[in-house]
Amino acid sequence: MIIKKQTALRGELSIPGDKSISHRAVMFGSLARGTTRISRFLEGADCLSTISCFQKMGISIERSDREILVHGKGLHGLAAPADCLDVGNSGTTTRLISGILAGQNFVSELNGDASIQSRPMKRIITPLTAMGADIVSLKGNGCAPLRIAGRPLHAIHYNSPVASAQVKSCVLLAGLYADGITSVTEPVLSRNHTELMLNYFGAQVESSGTTASIHPEPLLEGRDIQVPGDISSAAYFLGAGILTPGSEILLKNVGINPTRDGILRVLKDMGADITLMNEKHDGEPVADLLVRSGALHGTEIGGEIIPALIDELPMLAVIAAFAEGTTVIRDAAELRVKESDRIEVMVENLKKMGADIEGTPDGMVIRGGRPLHGAVIDPRLDHRAAMSFAVAGTVCDGDLDIRDAECVTISYPDFYKDLYRLGSR
Ligand code: S3P
Repeated sequence: MIIKKQTALRGELSIPGDKSISHRAVMFGSLARGTTRISRFLEGADCLSTISCFQKMGISIERSDREILVHGKGLHGLAAPADCLDVGNSGTTTRLISGILAGQNFVSELNGDASIQSRPMKRIITPLTAMGADIVSLKGNGCAPLRIAGRPLHAIHYNSPVASAQVKSCVLLAGLYADGITSVTEPVLSRNHTELMLNYFGAQVESSGTTASIHPEPLLEGRDIQVPGDISSAAYFLGAGILTPGSEILLKNVGINPTRDGILRVLKDMGADITLMNEKHDGEPVADLLVRSGALHGTEIGGEIIPALIDELPMLAVIAAFAEGTTVIRDAAELRVKESDRIEVMVENLKKMGADIEGTPDGMVIRGGRPLHGAVIDPRLDHRAAMSFAVAGTVCDGDLDIRDAECVTISYPDFYKDLYRLGSR
């Protein structure tokens, strides 16, 4: 994909559905009794992996252009899959489904692509094993493929060493099948979509500070869910709108849950012109975001805000390269175990474009303001790296050539179409 420099991006964009919320709607709808109707479901490859896993366990899921219907069979209604569950590239599918599978009365195996086979699964194997689950990494390296033999589970209190919504959700979902109240404490609060949505389906989940607790064996009932636009997808258009001179973009219906809105807080701190409009609350808080171009200055990003913008750090690294002054990102070692090592990918490719950037064990130091030029970018099949560089390509001098650019289908199949639609106005 060749990205060319753009002048003024203008117009309105309806941001595709939130990936985290789309996954959970299918999973919890499958475990509920009756039909769950999901509108604005994200048809990205990751969420389609979740659908296919539950279909393999006997759940009927209908897809149309406008909505997804999940015909749930209750907490104990899943059937043993005939073969291995394919989680594709999706860490969320892998870690959340493992919590569910641990409490079933059948054996299952799950596996995915090369990236999934190198991502750490010990972080879920440890708490699930403490609950009495039988879960093994088949290659003995703490990664997928995983084999899970369902068993009766014990309630635990788990002190998670990482702030990870995937770990927290995995343990809470196993807690649906435990013999008492299961709770998880994390070092910093991560996204809370599982807690909010499980309660909406009828579970009893309590949150206090960084601890979430769940009561076992609730009666979950099918629900209607409107998936908000994904702030992680909106991030690319916030970046494009800020960096491309003369731009004004209205991003419609974006989820602004406080456990996800770190990018808005950081961009405002850097001097960005972003206005929130039409704020409303429909299970999750949403708003329209109006972004206008303007010069930014460097900042420090670290500490408690990190989980609230972890997936937006690749885009923030690109924005920082165009901002005046130094930006320091720290406390973000988790970036090294995402779909790719995102510190390495961003540093290596931004350097090719002429940026002054260095990686640290848990972040990056970016001395912004140097003119960037076109280069051949290898996003290492990481959707978020590819989209962040596409935005860099709309502002740098000369053509930017992104290899394996189609990897954006993981979370945003129409990304390039949307980017060029705004540019052609
Ligand atoms: C996600 C949680 C985050 C995030 C990922 C989606 C989720 O991962 O990076 O893209 O849906 O729960 P961790 O929980 O591992 O930090």
